[in-house]
Amino acid sequence: MERTLIVLKPDAVQRRLVGRIIERFERKGLRLVGMKMLRMDEQRARRMYSVHEGQHFYEPLMAFIMSSPVVAMVLRGPQAVSVARSLIGTTDGREAAAGTIRGDWGLSPRHNLVHGSDSAESAEKEVPIFFEPEELLDYGMDDMKWVSPT
Ligand code: RTP
Ligand code: MG
Repeated sequence: MERTLIVLKPDAVQRRLVGRIIERFERKGLRLVGMKMLRMDEQRARRMYSVHEGQHFYEPLMAFIMSSPVVAMVLRGPQAVSVARSLIGTTDGREAAAGTIRGDWGLSPRHNLVHGSDSAESAEKEVPIFFEPEELLDYGMDDMKWVSPT
């Protein structure tokens, strides 16, 4: 089992898409193990996107991610990182495949609704930026024996 950090960005909250986006992760079978709403401060934003420091889009990305509240969550499941990334779609909404979150709701390379960790290693670095260990819940879901038998 793997876990991944998902952040519904300010545009997802402002466009009232939070419920519909979470529904896509749930219906795939990923398990929600922690969730909170917050407004990102500069320290948290820089920590989350430190790999992009120096890129031309870095400062506009900082401004965007801090511009309005976000919803952060941790999802668990088999290959949760890549499964979530496939549901999210490629970075630029104009190119993202139809049926993905960005493909269905976005037209922008920056206002692209959702962040998802890009590897299991990134997820392990990103989860603690948002959650204390006790904020993540360990519980079973009975339907998993039908969704993803082990
Ligand atoms: P994310 O980290 O948010 O899940 O997105 P990603 O992996 O698909 O894309 P990444 O390359 O990590 O870029 C991080 C975020 O920076 C913004 N961005 N703007 N050309 C641009 O204006 C541009 N390029 C990237 C996006 O919000 C992207 O998700
Ligand atoms: Mg990324």
